[in-house]
Amino acid sequence: MNANGVASSLRALLERLRLRAILAFLLVQIFVPCLSSPLACAADSIVFVEKEKLWIVQSGEATYAFGVNERGELQHLYWGKHMGAQDFTSTHSLPGWASFDLSTTTTPQEYPGWGAGLYTEPALKLTLANGNREVVLHYVDHKLEDNDLEITLKDEISALYVHLHYRVYPGNGILERSARIENGTSDAVSLESAQSASWTLPQDGSYRLHYLTGRWAGEWQLQTERLQVGKRVIESRRGSTGNEANPWFAIDHVDETDESHGPVWFGELGWSGSWRFTIERTPSGQCRVVGGFNPFDFGYRLAPGESLQTPPFYAGFTDAGLGEASRILHRFQLERILPGSPHPPLRPVLYNSWEATEFNTDEAGQMALAEKASRLGVERFVVDDGWFGQRNNDHSGLGDWYVNPRKFPHGLKPLIERVHQLGMDFGLWVEPEMVNPDSDLYRAHPDWVMNFPGRPRTEGRNQLVLNLARDDVKEYIFSWLDRLVADNDIALLKWDYNRNWSEPGWPEAAPADQKKIWVRYVQNLYDIIDRLRSRHPRLQIEGCSGGGARVDSGMLRRVDQVWPSDNTDALDRLTIQYGFTQAYTPHVMMAWVTDVPNGIDGRATPIGFRFLVAMTGSLGIGGNLNKWTDDENAVASKMISFYKQIRATVQDGILFRLGSPIESDFSAVQYVSQDSHQVVVFAFLHSQQFGRSMPQLHLRGLAEDAMYSVSAIDDKLVDQTGKLSGAYLMHHGIRLRLRGDYDATAIKFDRVR
Ligand code: GLA
Repeated sequence: MNANGVASSLRALLERLRLRAILAFLLVQIFVPCLSSPLACAADSIVFVEKEKLWIVQSGEATYAFGVNERGELQHLYWGKHMGAQDFTSTHSLPGWASFDLSTTTTPQEYPGWGAGLYTEPALKLTLANGNREVVLHYVDHKLEDNDLEITLKDEISALYVHLHYRVYPGNGILERSARIENGTSDAVSLESAQSASWTLPQDGSYRLHYLTGRWAGEWQLQTERLQVGKRVIESRRGSTGNEANPWFAIDHVDETDESHGPVWFGELGWSGSWRFTIERTPSGQCRVVGGFNPFDFGYRLAPGESLQTPPFYAGFTDAGLGEASRILHRFQLERILPGSPHPPLRPVLYNSWEATEFNTDEAGQMALAEKASRLGVERFVVDDGWFGQRNNDHSGLGDWYVNPRKFPHGLKPLIERVHQLGMDFGLWVEPEMVNPDSDLYRAHPDWVMNFPGRPRTEGRNQLVLNLARDDVKEYIFSWLDRLVADNDIALLKWDYNRNWSEPGWPEAAPADQKKIWVRYVQNLYDIIDRLRSRHPRLQIEGCSGGGARVDSGMLRRVDQVWPSDNTDALDRLTIQYGFTQAYTPHVMMAWVTDVPNGIDGRATPIGFRFLVAMTGSLGIGGNLNKWTDDENAVASKMISFYKQIRATVQDGILFRLGSPIESDFSAVQYVSQDSHQVVVFAFLHSQQFGRSMPQLHLRGLAEDAMYSVSAIDDKLVDQTGKLSGAYLMHHGIRLRLRGDYDATAIKFDRVR
């Protein structure tokens, strides 16, 4: 090394030391005050290193870092296992690869605009009024307040701004990102793709993608595939979340990760309209997930001064496997997302009349069912479809929200009073966003549905979608719902939504604004629910979309529970619920016990098996109680009373998936209560062949030296000794006596002092 080389190494060393000193100073500033105020002491934080223009985000186990590079771009640096702020140096763009992949493309940006030779998936794509179609975003300034960071970027030429928002949720291990795109120019700007975030994973991992797909009656199928070079798109173009794919992803390492070990990067989008995730692996080994509004048929014209806010995209990282990724999301939903968070109220045991009566809903029939339900220990009675308008089947009446006078001659009040006398509260089915063409509403307002003038209106389940983007339609829906809830003592609305969009036209809007329907509809839907809930604070809502076609963390902010699938067959439900809980908490997962042979697939499973499958979520009953035998009623009463002892653990506890119904004919789940005092295990044998014995079940997440008193729901636990230690349960494991087809058991362990 020559003298110049020595001098420059020395300079680099001094620079590094100086940076470390600054960082040490900053850390002292942050952590010393924590000594006197434990609440302010969360390790989760966002730190700004001024000199180097670096932001270091600590969120749970993860560190996330980015900075401003020499071109002024916001460049991603790191997302993974914990690193200290002192471990980072300044940000430099990456070299290009020959003349084909320019540095713009090889340098991972936090929010890349399409321009300057960017060939990877952009977060923003637009057309300016003068026909220019590129946007190159540079850092302008930022505001950091506690756990909220807003960074402003600006196009290098025009006054087009992007305000990136980052939020850390202390104690939850989740980083939220979104963007607000602001038109500061004096002309309209047309947005063609507006994403919430671009998430960059470490380069060169051998990655595997997990995602959820499905269809009606077959939602929540977990898919796993190796990520190859190219783009993998999962999306909904349906106007709502959809059951074909759910806006959740988890990416792990092929050889390192399983249910309880190894790195996982995961996230979900809080949006109930069309969405898209583009998971991209470049030929040079980069991996990113870009997600937000679906750019398909997207066109959002921003008038001068106008902004568009993208949905929140929540993400996290863990080194403890896919099970932990789910647990982080569950906790986050319970503590930050659901109505009533951080302590959303427990779900009552519910009865729903749909499978029993379908559209033959009337006062006498519902009262008879209510009496039987209350004897079993049910706490909430829900009248499903068929109570309103001329709704005798799915061909008519939707949209006419008056109580059918033939079925309920005295209105709903006598039934509601009877339900209350029986010690239950009352729920009611509605489908506010839809209309049957054979309805008074449609006859009066044929223009209220989304449509392309002069073109046919395609029906699904004989219904059309009301255009909630129109403010008059929004107000109409709000006002009848408000009246319905004000006039009747309704504890729960089951809010259904039974088809996806066709002809998404909005002819009343200016042609250049008509595509805003994709965004405005969902914003107005949220507005209706938000106002309704604030006017009726005790009202709860179940989100339903012909099953689980609209479940996402945007909806979960507004509904207390969801209906995962119209498929209530207990065996199918094991897989459906396994997929569902990858992304969403069992707290919201409604699960009913219904009659056999099951209406969807004709399968007959024993009532005990049906109950235990349903008890792994929020328990409901949906069978025709008029036909239940004394023996069935006895099983039901026993199961419901057991469920009430464990429901807080199931709904709000910590879920461990001990065995997968996808991989084996034997599966099991375990829940540990938040205070770790109660543990519940459910085990299911789908079908036994060749008399094979059951695997030993090793419990997880217990204190080794704690003692637990054991109460099994039946005699299928071999190790029934009264008390067992945490070490025994985890290391030795328990043995179960399950046999034949559709056998199941549940065991409760209560910690003894
Ligand atoms: C949808 C729901 C069902 C039921 C019916 C009523 O299919 O998913 O639970 O409410 O509508 O029409």
